[in-house]
Amino acid sequence: MAATDLERFSNEEKRNLSLGGHVGFDSLPDQLVSKSVAQGFSFNILCVGETGIGKSTLMNTLFNTTFETEEASHYEYAVRLRPRTYDLQESNVHLKLTIVDAVGFGDQINKDESYRPIVEYIDTQFENYLQEELKIRRSLFNYHDTRIHVCLYFITPTGHSLKSLDLVTMKKLDSKVNIIPIIAKADTISKSELHKFKIKIMSELVSNGVQIYQFPTDDDAVAEINSVMNAHLPFAVVGSTEEVKVGNKMVRARQYPWGVVQVENESHCDFVKLREMLIRVNMEDLREQTHARHYELYRRCKLEEMGFKDTDPDNQPFSLQETYETKRKEFLCELQKKEEEMRQMFVNKVKETESELKEKERDLHEKFEHLKRIHQEEKRKVEEKRRELEEEMNAFNRRKVAVETLQCQSLQATSQQPLKKDKDKKKEWIVTMWDVNIV
Ligand code: GTP
Ligand code: MG
Repeated sequence: MAATDLERFSNEEKRNLSLGGHVGFDSLPDQLVSKSVAQGFSFNILCVGETGIGKSTLMNTLFNTTFETEEASHYEYAVRLRPRTYDLQESNVHLKLTIVDAVGFGDQINKDESYRPIVEYIDTQFENYLQEELKIRRSLFNYHDTRIHVCLYFITPTGHSLKSLDLVTMKKLDSKVNIIPIIAKADTISKSELHKFKIKIMSELVSNGVQIYQFPTDDDAVAEINSVMNAHLPFAVVGSTEEVKVGNKMVRARQYPWGVVQVENESHCDFVKLREMLIRVNMEDLREQTHARHYELYRRCKLEEMGFKDTDPDNQPFSLQETYETKRKEFLCELQKKEEEMRQMFVNKVKETESELKEKERDLHEKFEHLKRIHQEEKRKVEEKRRELEEEMNAFNRRKVAVETLQCQSLQATSQQPLKKDKDKKKEWIVTMWDVNIV
């Protein structure tokens, strides 16, 4: 339906009725408030700034309490995100506050990748929320929302200009989180220098296309204060949890030999402005912007990446069901193709192995035949040798018998002719031996 049709239709259908008496739906806002109060709120702050810039002190000053703080070392190998959650209560309102510290930010020699862990942390929180939303049984009602609602970016009070690390990091973060830049330790910079520094920072942010959070001016109730405050950005803050006596009052301040810097004195610093804007006036807008702008962008990109679309190629509406069916078909086709490829691969592999095995079998058979031939040859040679040896043995035995016979005969002859001459005997023996050898 076109927008004009819709307008006509709604104008025709909408009728104003005057009620005869009290019905009660005017209590809807109250119902909403009491439900929200019962449910409690969550607010998540990300603190990005160099080590020792005053992040923890400012958080303690903002919430007027002492959160556990642990000094970060300057020797972190990479930037690491450290979330800590606290349950706070003011009147009957419960707030689950998560403060996430970017530990080790600005301490690495190579700072090229310093922004990456921060971006990844923010995306992980969005992803967790998206996963919860996509569940069949969602429990968003009591889900602990860890999405970052605001990033307080602590700028070092150099009085010069922003560092490239600041510009790169803020640029990488500006589409993912509401950035509020603040000049930390503003008591270390003079009033005129601070004024110039603020102007310089804002012009650098604009020229580099960094989108920082603008306090909303569309709600009449806060439009005026918010537009005034937008002109004060970046807030120059001082943090301290120390109480100093000023006049007859104890105030949070930083005491120096030359005087006292009062945290909540608007002529000393912008701490009160930050607290007002961040907590009292715009906390709900920060939560809303996170959900409606940053999370929405993440969700859209993620779903598009997964192949979901609102319209088909002809610009016609495309339902989730249709997208699902198309994706399912694509997936099944892909699966079948993969299966066929794998089957073919398997068949080829089997064939290859089979031919390899056959080849090996042939080799083995040839080797066997060769060995068999060698063996037969050896056997034949051994047989021949055996025969020769047997013949030699027979010849030897015959000679042995002949020698023994001759010895017997000679013994007999000796006993019959004892006087026969030795020479003749020897001759006879030689002749006999000659005969034996011939045999
Ligand atoms: P890491 O967590 O270790 O990175 O430090 P951090 O950024 O949390 O700084 P932290 O709050 O621990 O403060 C570091 C030092 O700076 C302390 O000595 C604070 O007293 C001092 N400090 C904090 N805020 C201010 C400030 O506004 N002005 C001045 N001059 N000093 C401050
Ligand atoms: Mg700290």
